[in-house]
Amino acid sequence: MNLDDYRIADEPFYRPVADEIALFEAAYGDRLPVMLKGPTGCGKTRFVEHMAWRLGRPLITVACHEDMTASDLAGRFLLSPEGTVWHDGPLTTAVRHGAICYLDEIVEARQDTTVVIHPLTDARRVLPLDKHNEVIQAHSDFALTISYNPGYQSAVKDLKESTKQRFVAIEFSYPERDVEAAIVAREAGVESGLADVLVAIGARSRNLRGQGLDEGASTRMLIHAGRLVRAGMPIETATRSAIVLPITDDADMREALSGAVAACIA
Ligand SMILES: Nc1ncnc2c1ncn2[C@@H]1O[C@H](COP(=O)(O)OP(=O)(O)O)[C@@H](O)[C@H]1O
Ligand SMILES: [Mg+2]
Repeated sequence: MNLDDYRIADEPFYRPVADEIALFEAAYGDRLPVMLKGPTGCGKTRFVEHMAWRLGRPLITVACHEDMTASDLAGRFLLSPEGTVWHDGPLTTAVRHGAICYLDEIVEARQDTTVVIHPLTDARRVLPLDKHNEVIQAHSDFALTISYNPGYQSAVKDLKESTKQRFVAIEFSYPERDVEAAIVAREAGVESGLADVLVAIGARSRNLRGQGLDEGASTRMLIHAGRLVRAGMPIETATRSAIVLPITDDADMREALSGAVAACIA
């Protein structure tokens, strides 16, 4: 098995916000499982791509969802002309050959799926494949990273306590204004004056959290708005399409947000 397809050749741009790079390196050095915790669109996925590149490890990413089963992660027998053949799932591939496995939005998966990672996250570092009659000892380069958005938490959708307690957590939140503006300018390819305006809009929207907005505008949304401007749209249209409309269906909240946007643009 060749993991070349999972190697990241070019450095993914990542602007550090705190000590997250050192923390991840320390955790990886000891192969401690890591949980990236924070709201959507604040750089978790970009960070893990950057870290895989920095550490020179292949990265296998799995977007978790409700219908995902343990077999989707671990593997299954499939019919082929030669009979039934075992196929490793993405988690097994990472464990066997030594990649970083990133389970994105882990709470989306059912708890009976998530428990397959337990034996990998304690001192044993093994993956039992019951159906294949095999217990794999994890490759020395293997490490597990998950992402988790505490905002989506509900009684039905949360990590088991016994799962949570296996990870060291790195907290992500929206960066400070000047750092976020530098990210928006670079990622959207816009000049810094416009990036400053977009970041100010982001800050205002985040102040509306809890007053009818579940989450404020993410860094990702600000970048989208910047890209629309770069593509020739007026800033009013760009911010409406990239921020105001996607974030809420509530007419009053849209009006409040539009007011905040107008104040920032003026
Ligand atoms: N610290 C950062 N450095 C570089 N880019 C960032 C950073 N934070 C956010 N971004 C930008 O925001 C976008 C969304 O981030 P992403 O990692 O996909 O968010 P998450 O996985 O937390 O939902 C990225 O594609 C990237 O353009
Ligand atoms: Mg992500």
